[in-house]
Amino acid sequence: MSNTDLAVIILAAGKGTRMKSALHKVLHPLGGRPMLHHLLDTVEQLAPSRKIIVVGADKEQVENSTGNHCEIVVQDPQNGTGHAVQVTRDQLHGFSGDVLVLYGDVPMLSVATLQKLLDVRQGTGQPAVVVLGFETADTKTYGRLVVDDNGALMAIVEHKDATTEQKAIRLCNSGIMALDGNKMFQLLEQLEDNNAAGELYLTDIVAIARAKGLECAVSLASEAEVTGINSRSELAQAEAAFQTAKRQQFMNDGVTLLDPSSVYFSHDTVIAADVLIEANVIFGPGVTVGKDVTIKGFSHIEGATIAKGATVGPYARLRPGADVGAGAKIGNFVEVKKSTIEEGAKVSHLSYIGDAIVGAKANIGAGTITCNYDGFNKSLTEIGKGAFIGSNTALVAPVKVGDGAIVGAGSVVTREVSEDALAVTRAQQKEINGWAAAFRNKQKKK
Ligand code: UD1
Ligand code: CA
Repeated sequence: MSNTDLAVIILAAGKGTRMKSALHKVLHPLGGRPMLHHLLDTVEQLAPSRKIIVVGADKEQVENSTGNHCEIVVQDPQNGTGHAVQVTRDQLHGFSGDVLVLYGDVPMLSVATLQKLLDVRQGTGQPAVVVLGFETADTKTYGRLVVDDNGALMAIVEHKDATTEQKAIRLCNSGIMALDGNKMFQLLEQLEDNNAAGELYLTDIVAIARAKGLECAVSLASEAEVTGINSRSELAQAEAAFQTAKRQQFMNDGVTLLDPSSVYFSHDTVIAADVLIEANVIFGPGVTVGKDVTIKGFSHIEGATIAKGATVGPYARLRPGADVGAGAKIGNFVEVKKSTIEEGAKVSHLSYIGDAIVGAKANIGAGTITCNYDGFNKSLTEIGKGAFIGSNTALVAPVKVGDGAIVGAGSVVTREVSEDALAVTRAQQKEINGWAAAFRNKQKKK
């Protein structure tokens, strides 16, 4: 059910110049997913009736990424955070609920923190403005929250405009606010740009509200939660925090990580209990791992499903569409793409298996390659249950090897192999008795 009393505005019109990127800042990924989508996921849990994203020049990028899930409003020119909220006025005409203002580059807020902020807004005295604040030793250039003796919020002073005394305040503005939708646009009308940046500061809404006798309040969050991402370096720090949390979550859920800090997860990785993951394993998007699986070191896995009891790696690469059955084995230097490896099958060494079905309990010898691509089309290789493919076999797709068949090592298979047959395509071995000894004698005499 949607919460008809809640609208969310996500500010994302800032230029994000410090990222030095053609990609919009809020679309840079954390755990393989754009930071904006992490935020939208959290917002979704509040079930707002309106979701508005304020963007600048690169509207299309954000629009393409969010589809029709959000309303997009363009702020042009970008005349400050206060102006960014002002431009949603027409969009929110007639809306009288609470308005939550978020930043697209502050993606890791918890839903509990946002709920608490909204609870303060609806709590004692129903303050017109509730600001999400945080205490920090390193106040950087954050706006400072000026509170009275009772802790009520009186004003926000931007770092650039603060006096030495105000700069000593450790209580900072995260930028996130909950506003009374009935009053906010009237208050915002009064913003002025007579400040150090020459912009319309959203933060001035506090002093304006106070001057009208309206209450303003602070709700607290941890610094880690409200830290914004403005540069690649801050993106890396956010990624590190995301990974640390994921590792902890999986260990809490019964997954063994031999060297947690060397394993990287995606936002959507699913791993069952009693899975063992060795060092230096990377999970791209779309991976599901069943119970009792072992993933050995240096494996790279994306878009793959690994069923109960299977073993993968070391040095395995599972690409999108790899479906590894229960108890199957994918060994070292094996790459699997868009293929089903059925229950108990083994691909133990140095193989490429692409666009294939490998039947249950089949054994694929070292160096076997499915030749799935002729430069134009991708074709299917089907290997029957219990088949045995000798080492260094090239299976030229489309091709089929029947159940229980054996292919001799070094074969190039281009035609169907019948069930239980032996197929060998290599040249027959010849032997000339004593030839080697005679050759050596002749060379020595020279
Ligand atoms: C702002 C706050 C500051 C707070 C800090 C927290 C103001 C005036 N200052 O400062 O008190 O401590 O955030 O990080 O609000 N944006 C727009 N349009 C604009 C300008 C900004 O959409 O015209 C968006 C940005 O994309 C960003 C957010 O607003 O998501 C904050 O902008 P930013 O320039 O980083 O704000 P600060 O000056 O750092
Ligand atoms: Ca910022």
